[in-house]
Amino acid sequence: MNMKFVAAGLALALGVGFTVDAVAQGKPETMVKQRQAAMTLQDKYFGPLGAMARGKAPYNASVVARNAGYLEILTKLAWDGFAPETANVKSRALPEIYKDTAGFNAEIEKLQAGVAKLVAAAKSSNESAAKAAIGDIGKVCGSCHKKYRQSR
Ligand code: HEC
Repeated sequence: MNMKFVAAGLALALGVGFTVDAVAQGKPETMVKQRQAAMTLQDKYFGPLGAMARGKAPYNASVVARNAGYLEILTKLAWDGFAPETANVKSRALPEIYKDTAGFNAEIEKLQAGVAKLVAAAKSSNESAAKAAIGDIGKVCGSCHKKYRQSR
């Protein structure tokens, strides 16, 4: 198979971002479960990095590099699940998500920019830059949750 063609197809597939193709998606209940699953995995692979950045766990460059690579994909997965037709499904997503799409998308972009910085820092084995990027990412998780997720 032509690898150039495969790579271009992959870039295209990943590059579509968080626009919603409602036809290609499942039932609203399923979409909610899937976006929560993606969010849970973000948490799984970000959590240990947060602990390292705060000095609560020893810095481990190979875990940082691996998790950064996972997060590069994981932080793309939840967003098309926040489609307007899911608004009536019980979840912690606030209605503001569907009213303030630009604000929500801005948080997504900040998250992905932070992860890109983390990936670059991990590749160049720059521990302090990696820790700074982890700090930025943690802030975005928090600020988006504060604005767009129901608190318990
Ligand atoms: C652009 C906004 C946004 C960003 C950025 C974001 N989240 Fe979320 N997150 C949400 C919303 C909205 C929900 C509620 C989703 C629902 O209930 O369907 C949520 C839910 C969650 C949940 C609960 C999942 C469940 O099973 O109910 C976890 C865990 C989570 N986020 C972790 C993270 C972590 C870790 C980050 C940062 C790496 C992050 N989130 C970044 C918006 C965001």
